[in-house]
Amino acid sequence: MSTTSPQALHLIDKPLSEEDLANQIDNLSDLQGNILKGHGRDHSAHIFLKFKPGRIAMVRAWLHGPLKARITSAQKQIDDAAAFKATQKDGGVFQIFVVSAAGYAYLGKDTAAFGDASFRAGAQASIDPLNDPKIAAWEPGFADEIHAMLLIADVQQAKVAFMAREVAIEVSAFADVLVSQPGDQQKNERGNGIEHFGYVDGRSQPLMLERDLAGESDGRTLWNPMVGPAQVLIHDPFGGADSSGSYFVFRKLEEKVRAFKTQEQVLATAMGLTGDARELAGALVIGRFEDGTPVALSDEPLIEDSLPPNDAAVPNDFDYRHDTDGSRCPFMSHIRKSNPRGSGPGGLVDEMTRHMARRGITYGERAADTFEDISKMPVDGVGLLFMAYQRSIVDQFEFIQTLWVDNAGFPGAGSGMDPVIGQHANPAPTAQVWPKVWGQAGATVSFDFRDFVVMKGGEYFFSPSLSGIAAL
Ligand code: HEM
Repeated sequence: MSTTSPQALHLIDKPLSEEDLANQIDNLSDLQGNILKGHGRDHSAHIFLKFKPGRIAMVRAWLHGPLKARITSAQKQIDDAAAFKATQKDGGVFQIFVVSAAGYAYLGKDTAAFGDASFRAGAQASIDPLNDPKIAAWEPGFADEIHAMLLIADVQQAKVAFMAREVAIEVSAFADVLVSQPGDQQKNERGNGIEHFGYVDGRSQPLMLERDLAGESDGRTLWNPMVGPAQVLIHDPFGGADSSGSYFVFRKLEEKVRAFKTQEQVLATAMGLTGDARELAGALVIGRFEDGTPVALSDEPLIEDSLPPNDAAVPNDFDYRHDTDGSRCPFMSHIRKSNPRGSGPGGLVDEMTRHMARRGITYGERAADTFEDISKMPVDGVGLLFMAYQRSIVDQFEFIQTLWVDNAGFPGAGSGMDPVIGQHANPAPTAQVWPKVWGQAGATVSFDFRDFVVMKGGEYFFSPSLSGIAAL
């Protein structure tokens, strides 16, 4: 074990080794959990708070006492993972807390201490560049001034719901609960997390702990997901000298499932696909088949239903070097737009700096038969609570959404908009170009696929260090 004092986590630009983890106990105990690795619980509540005018002393007393005591630090998350490995006993309830710029201002803090202009201005100020719906169309609680969000997660749904109700009572003297939003992870038959359109989600992530490479069964010959914690951390301006925190983006994204799945069928017909091959249409939209098989690698799903329930079998070691014409994985498919894996004009080194730690969870519950029969699929009311950590909202989330996803000219002229999350100011149809035959350049189909994800509200936050919370 090294005897030198460890570097602050936000300065480390390589993945943390086991030795680093052993040396970083103080810094990891000051960092909130869920940033370096997702908490993994299937149920959560997201409680959005607005502090009441004139109650700053009560708010501070709550933050410094009961709230701080709730938080799961990165170190506790690591300890709980070790205990789970040894005893199979899970770490119990997981809680994190994030603060908006308006929340810092309420607490008398100068938000100029934060370098990120979009964080300081708040998510409502970004609706025009992001082509988000007008704030009047957001769900009412999100349209208000949000100060903070407490996330409670557990394996038991009823426990999360109970704790969310208790929090509302606990804070009622000094805060209003603007929104209490449940999250419930949907899973496929193999136990992989899926989003409501039915596709495995959350598979490709920047990995910040060397130990997480063990879960990458297909290796990293073509795609190396390993990064350092500096990818998502900055110094917490109000925390201790070595403290670290992270910008946190929250967006409630409704998924129009029945319309999306219907349009997949129309696309399959337009491509002339028949029988099982019709699944290719949706795979071209996402960039992966529903089971997670990358369409850059195969024109059919490859993962056996009988494999054990985890992500290891879902390939992630791929890039687009064998698909320079986009005839396997179209340039505008969701995963190619949001991570071109070195095939964009900026090159791999710049692209790598954009990646965020995605920590989303689905919301809205569904009966099993609503996954099979299009006529029973939800029209609205279900979707994804998109959540992501980063060191810069301007350079990561907003960069990806505006300059990649919404930019029809990215990664090259004529690529088209992301058919899943592309947002546009101009309602005129903007058909994308789809390959007619997988892997064959030349024959194409022009087809407009878009507008099945609707932003219902959100906010930009900062995930403070524990020492930063004590200083609020
Ligand atoms: C309802 C909205 C969304 C849906 C249904 C969705 C769906 C998916 C799916 C199915 C995957 C493939 C699984 C994986 O590789 O992890 C994926 C990957 C990804 N998504 Fe989304 N997503 C949504 C919103 C977003 C947003 C808002 C962003 C960022 C602006 C985003 C960025 C990414 C990234 C970076 C990847 C990984 C790509 C890769 O590394 O190959 N997604 N998404």
